[in-house]
Amino acid sequence: MKSVHIPLSLLRILGVCALLVLPVPSGADEAENQIKYRQAVMKAIGGHMGASSLIVRGKVSHRDQLKVHANGLLSLSRDIAGLFPEGSDFGETEAREIIWEKWDDFRKAADESKAGIENFVRVVETGGDSDLAAAFRRVGKGCRGCHEDFRQKDE
Ligand code: HEC
Repeated sequence: MKSVHIPLSLLRILGVCALLVLPVPSGADEAENQIKYRQAVMKAIGGHMGASSLIVRGKVSHRDQLKVHANGLLSLSRDIAGLFPEGSDFGETEAREIIWEKWDDFRKAADESKAGIENFVRVVETGGDSDLAAAFRRVGKGCRGCHEDFRQKDE
């Protein structure tokens, strides 16, 4: 069978047309959505913190679930700085401009927080319960250490 020859230039034109009609993904990574996303992640982090706190303080006896919350904190905190792309500093956000002005300090705060959480996971998994309170306090200090400098205070 004889193959049909379509001139290359025609293929090119068809290709360009196809590109033009492809739906453009709208809204992906817009500042507004980046802000919503990081607030959702922070809320999830806050959820694991609240649950951990109740267990560590002995208010509930779900000690067997502490590992889940500690690891949840760690998973969500692996790349906190990555939640703050440049340009996501306006709109409905409590993120302060200073984050991008002092980016290295911000990263450091994120790393310190992560180190505290890694320690917490270790203690939860292998340490004695007597070390739990101190390890948990260090996690809280990591959150505050960043919020104090880089998050707008509520009026
Ligand atoms: C490296 C900095 C940094 C670290 C570490 C950090 N946060 Fe945040 N967090 C922020 C910033 C900045 C905001 C404001 C984000 C915004 O409004 O866009 C925020 C917002 C929040 C919010 C409010 C989310 C909302 O509803 O808008 C909660 C809750 C929160 N953080 C909990 C935590 C907890 C708990 C930890 C520690 C386990 C933690 N954060 C660690 C910087 C940090």
